[in-house]
Amino acid sequence: MTFHDLYETYPYFSIDVKKEQEVLRNHDLIVFQHPFYWNNMPPLLKLWQDEVLENGFAYGENGKELVGKEFLLSITTGGSADTYTAEGQNKFPVTDFMRAYEQMCSLCGMKWNPPHVLHSSRQNGHEEIYVHANKLKDFMSTFIERGHL
Ligand SMILES: Cc1cc2nc3c(=O)[nH]c(=O)nc-3n(C[C@H](O)[C@H](O)[C@H](O)COP(=O)(O)O)c2cc1C
Repeated sequence: MTFHDLYETYPYFSIDVKKEQEVLRNHDLIVFQHPFYWNNMPPLLKLWQDEVLENGFAYGENGKELVGKEFLLSITTGGSADTYTAEGQNKFPVTDFMRAYEQMCSLCGMKWNPPHVLHSSRQNGHEEIYVHANKLKDFMSTFIERGHL
């Protein structure tokens, strides 16, 4: 298992594409864990997606490196669960904003798993954060027990 902090690794946003692709090749489960920014991913992760998931690697006729891997999105949102309703500030269910991630999986041949969401992340106490972290840990443990990397 590899914990890879993009902001720590690339403070100047200069991504080592070949190295990142090698990391992806060596793992069966890819987890994006990040705060939701404008109902989307933070900018460095977007740049990573644009540069690392290139044609011929992640998609396209010869781009089959991610086929058969699994993907999990784990996010924290400042907004409460109520804000992600028709009457709430964000108007739509939080999963509606995840369609681009789901489509990324589909295009790359990765299996989409039900996302993990921690709402009201700035208001939560240790207990909620612990529950969220544990859920993620359990998911990964189960994955490893199934014989994956
Ligand atoms: C630039 C920016 C955009 C944000 N956009 C959203 C948003 O669209 N929806 C939301 O619920 N929270 C939003 N937030 C709040 C963050 O998601 C929240 O602060 C974060 O999940 C807290 O996690 P952290 O402590 O790891 O930063 C935004 C925060 C920043 C700085």
